[in-house]
Amino acid sequence: MTNRFTVTITDKESARDGRTAPAAPDETYLEVAQRAGFQVAATCGGRGRCRSCRIKILAGEVPPPGISDRVQLGHDEVHERFRLSCQTRVIADSAILLAPPRAETGHKILAGRAPAAGMALDSGVEKRHIRAAAPDDENDQTSDWDEVRAACGDRLVGAAPTDILRRLPGMLREKGGSLTVTTFNGEVIAIEPGDTTAHNYGMAFDIGTTSIVGSLIDLDAGEELAAVGGLNPQAVHGGDLMSRIAYAQFDAKRLQTLRAKVLGAVNSFVGEACAAAGIEAAHIHKVVVVGNTVMHHIFLGIDPTHVGLAPYAPAVRDAIELPAAEVPLKSTPNARVCLLPLVAGFVGADTVAAVLATRLDESEEIRALVDIGTNGEVVMGSRRKLMACSAPAGPALEGAQIRHGMRGAVGAIEAVSIEDDVTLGVIGGAPPVGICGSGLIDAIAKMLDARVLEPSGLLQGEDRGDLPPKLAERLVRDDAGVAFALSWARDAGIDEDITLSQGDIRQLQLAKGAICAGVMLLQKVMKLPTEKIAELMLCGGFGNYINTTSALRIRLLPELPADRITYFGNAAALGAQMALLSETERARAADVARRIEHVSLATDPEFQAIFVEAVQFPGANVVPMRRGDRRGRRTRTGR
Ligand code: FES
Repeated sequence: MTNRFTVTITDKESARDGRTAPAAPDETYLEVAQRAGFQVAATCGGRGRCRSCRIKILAGEVPPPGISDRVQLGHDEVHERFRLSCQTRVIADSAILLAPPRAETGHKILAGRAPAAGMALDSGVEKRHIRAAAPDDENDQTSDWDEVRAACGDRLVGAAPTDILRRLPGMLREKGGSLTVTTFNGEVIAIEPGDTTAHNYGMAFDIGTTSIVGSLIDLDAGEELAAVGGLNPQAVHGGDLMSRIAYAQFDAKRLQTLRAKVLGAVNSFVGEACAAAGIEAAHIHKVVVVGNTVMHHIFLGIDPTHVGLAPYAPAVRDAIELPAAEVPLKSTPNARVCLLPLVAGFVGADTVAAVLATRLDESEEIRALVDIGTNGEVVMGSRRKLMACSAPAGPALEGAQIRHGMRGAVGAIEAVSIEDDVTLGVIGGAPPVGICGSGLIDAIAKMLDARVLEPSGLLQGEDRGDLPPKLAERLVRDDAGVAFALSWARDAGIDEDITLSQGDIRQLQLAKGAICAGVMLLQKVMKLPTEKIAELMLCGGFGNYINTTSALRIRLLPELPADRITYFGNAAALGAQMALLSETERARAADVARRIEHVSLATDPEFQAIFVEAVQFPGANVVPMRRGDRRGRRTRTGR
């Protein structure tokens, strides 16, 4: 049922070339290499804190980088297929080189600033242990705060916040003046009794229309301690941005309802992450939040009504920084919350974060990133010019509005192969309980190849005589018509067959049509023929895997040579993590947001025609879709 991969391992040092080893689902390259008898140094114990376990993936799909890869290896090595073997799970048959020499391009971007070879760790949060004496002489004209400031060498910016001053007299005398003073860019954000300098944490959140993902990170080590996530509970008030805006339009109470839901979710994710990592939420000192413009506004309690009305202007585009208590994030009241800047009404801070992560803004060559979410975005260009548009895909690729859809978690079908019968790749190697976006793309591509699905998007109904018997059997009928059974109930982790219905396939077509049309139209506006695009990076919260060949097969993207398409993973979440760990990166976000030119595609007279073409699978006769097929999903002109 589940994939088992083969890894060919080459070790230049010992000249033992080409030994192959099997890899179970979810195994890291480090585990596979060690099991195969290679002595791989793992100086930090496999925690992503050093570079000793570095590998280069010579062949096979390269898993998306994580924050540890970014921190330890830097952009150039990550881009040149280097990874930390302890952090990288095997997702395909592949060949790796242990302990490869450094990337030839080196680390131009961060040269001279990085602690190691990778990204600078300059989170702005500094924890200092001091010993301050409580005033004890009437003749000294001093105060508790004066003593703390003096013990810090007068390096503090401004006064301490009132809530800290309220508790200061007690804290100063509690442990004989032993205090830890935490600052953010010089401003005091926390004072605690005793020495807590070893506990300096932050959280990065990507708040999407359908899903929220967060990660808890050690700000000094750059190590991810816990990853959390789940559905955005606002989804009960509408699956896409426009229905979310419509729900709260000119209605302060409803806006508060949406806000309470997202804050409740973020607060509970903070608690969950702290419990998983065994740390106290009081030691979370910085939180970075990215999201599309509507999610950003609702998080802050700003009315998003006008984002949904022409000319779709946001209330603010600048980066925002505020104390957590003001949000309020009850779980971590002393943290400094930083929201990255926005580009426009429908190109938000998540897109800015994705550009940070992919370094599109520093690229010599023309590259594109396609961030697949309920509201997808396309950014195209190079260090000379960047343009972006939004592609309202709807939530199908995030597993919503699909009967057995789910996000990329344990039990989600993420890969499908079809020959005489169906074989599934399931996250965590568990019995399948649903299908996530990458599985959906793969399933549809393989169903097209196996002719279970016609290029028109119709499941084979009556005419199934040519199909292998086991596939023909999987075309089942239920209340909604024909469906294709990916897993029978007896093999599944739920009590029913896991199927894809004709309606599910229609949702997928609409989603991929919006994204493909976005890329095509941006190419048109920028006058960029396909051959000029050096790389197209697919981004999104799909977990470890998206089959780029399958993405091309279903025409999620316009025709490009397969080797120019890469899967980058959740670039928005990674960008948020980078801004969490580095004030240099957070400052870069402001520059990126200013430089991106927003293009409103739906006002383009050719949009509808291109969309209709993009909705089809390759090989289909282009038939205009019925009006109702796009109901509830509006383009910019129709938002
Ligand atoms: S062992 Fe240290 S990063 Fe992998």
